[in-house]
Amino acid sequence: RMMIEIMGINVMEDSLKEKLGVRRVIIVPGNSDDLPWVKEELGRAAIQSMKACVSDHTTIAVTGGTTMSAVAGMLTPDFASPDMLFVPARGGIGEDVQNQANVICATMAQKSGARHRVLYVPDQVSREVYESIMKEPSIKEVMALITSASIVLHGIGDAATMAKRRNTSEEDLRTILDGEAVGEAFGYYFDVHGKIVHKVKTIGLQLKDLASIPNVFAVAGGASKANAIQSYFKGMPQSSSTLITDEGAAKELLKGS
Ligand code: F6P
Repeated sequence: RMMIEIMGINVMEDSLKEKLGVRRVIIVPGNSDDLPWVKEELGRAAIQSMKACVSDHTTIAVTGGTTMSAVAGMLTPDFASPDMLFVPARGGIGEDVQNQANVICATMAQKSGARHRVLYVPDQVSREVYESIMKEPSIKEVMALITSASIVLHGIGDAATMAKRRNTSEEDLRTILDGEAVGEAFGYYFDVHGKIVHKVKTIGLQLKDLASIPNVFAVAGGASKANAIQSYFKGMPQSSSTLITDEGAAKELLKGS
């Protein structure tokens, strides 16, 4: 029985890899919508698969969210060397503090014994303030670290859930809903065809920068995220991406294929 279940997951991993066009898919048992500890398993699996790509001076750019927070919680000192660096992928995108990439990077560094840098950008600023922030030497330095990262580690969310969770303005909310967005990652909202219908204005990694990042790890599970995962990979260059997901999302994604 155990063997069959293991084989079942392997077959699902291969089918999903084909379907999404990604480099690799890893599926953990369970559905994180129903069982909170499945997120920790996603975290464990993400760390395990990243291990093959890290060296002493690796820089890892990280996004926010509860899944990334679970990854942070699973890190241990054997993962990193003191010279490894965690940096937030993008500036403020409206998350509560515990879900912010800055906080998650600090936890990751602390748990693994590596370093981290912060990227503090106020959420809603005028154009003038934004432009002067961009000229700050310390910001420029972190920006350079982000774009030179060899690993990007990120979450994917359901568009409506994310728009509600963040302090999204009425106007942006309308754009997101009218555009029929279903998925979100890095502050970009995608419709079912993978078209970007809205983008949160902030500094840091832009989607086009992802194309030159050698290893991208997307961690997202739960049956409720299936459409979001699909929309994101439709819109994105997938060939350098590994998806770490759970059975709940995988089964839903493979329905009808
Ligand atoms: O807001 C940061 C972020 O990574 C989003 O890009 C993503 O949609 C979301 O968090 C995922 O959050 P969670 O892991 O809590 O579902």
